Amino acid sequence: MAQCSDAPNAARAVDEYRHHAKAYDASAQRTMQTRLRTIEKLGLRPGDRVLDVASGTGLSFPLLREAVGAQGEVVGIDISPEMMRIARQRVAAAGWQNFTLLESPIESAQIPGPLDAVLFNFTHDVMRSPLALKRIFAATRPNARIAIAGMKYLPWWMAPANIIVRLKARPYMTTFEGLEKPWDLASPYLSAFDWRPVLFGAGYIGWGRAKA
Ligand SMILES: C[S@@+](CC[C@H](N)C(=O)[O-])C[C@H]1O[C@@H](n2cnc3c(N)ncnc32)[C@H](O)[C@@H]1O
Repeated sequence: MAQCSDAPNAARAVDEYRHHAKAYDASAQRTMQTRLRTIEKLGLRPGDRVLDVASGTGLSFPLLREAVGAQGEVVGIDISPEMMRIARQRVAAAGWQNFTLLESPIESAQIPGPLDAVLFNFTHDVMRSPLALKRIFAATRPNARIAIAGMKYLPWWMAPANIIVRLKARPYMTTFEGLEKPWDLASPYLSAFDWRPVLFGAGYIGWGRAKA
């Protein structure tokens, strides 16, 4: 297994998710409650256009589709062909029409906007990519609802246990940079941002609005 670097490495993410894709849905069951709570924070309404950032295998799609309805739109973007293949199969199997799926690094994606809501669910590499964030928030409507979840380092008094956080996180991110405060590069784009710890302090759910 390659070492984590001091910045996200898109080529490595593609490589690693080639191997994770098949077992991803099973491994993601343990953070399903966090996913549900994070999507709830988006306050989605019928007709909304929502972006699922680094949408992976599309595990959030049923919840997003249910909330935005047939007249809304779900946009999913992911860099991994293997993860995206499963996402496409999920959409085809359900017969959903109102999905736009892009297999691309977010950094160079043509994101259809304006977005009413943006979900970042366990997308640490994207949260640490200034270019990706710039691209996303350029497509986001002022005041759009934003919800973010992921792993983070434990508070300082539990710091020795961060070795376990790194072990758990390692398969799903190519950098540990920013794990103290994973949302800090997104903060300049956000107003009314708040967050709570989850997963015994090794995770977080954050929510806010895109700045007008
Ligand atoms: C931990 S998975 C999360 C997937 C999904 N958000 C979920 O909730 O299940 C991280 C995903 O980020 C994708 N990814 C990593 N870097 C990316 C980038 N620069 N652009 C687009 N997708 C990226 C990976 O391919 C992977 O599918």
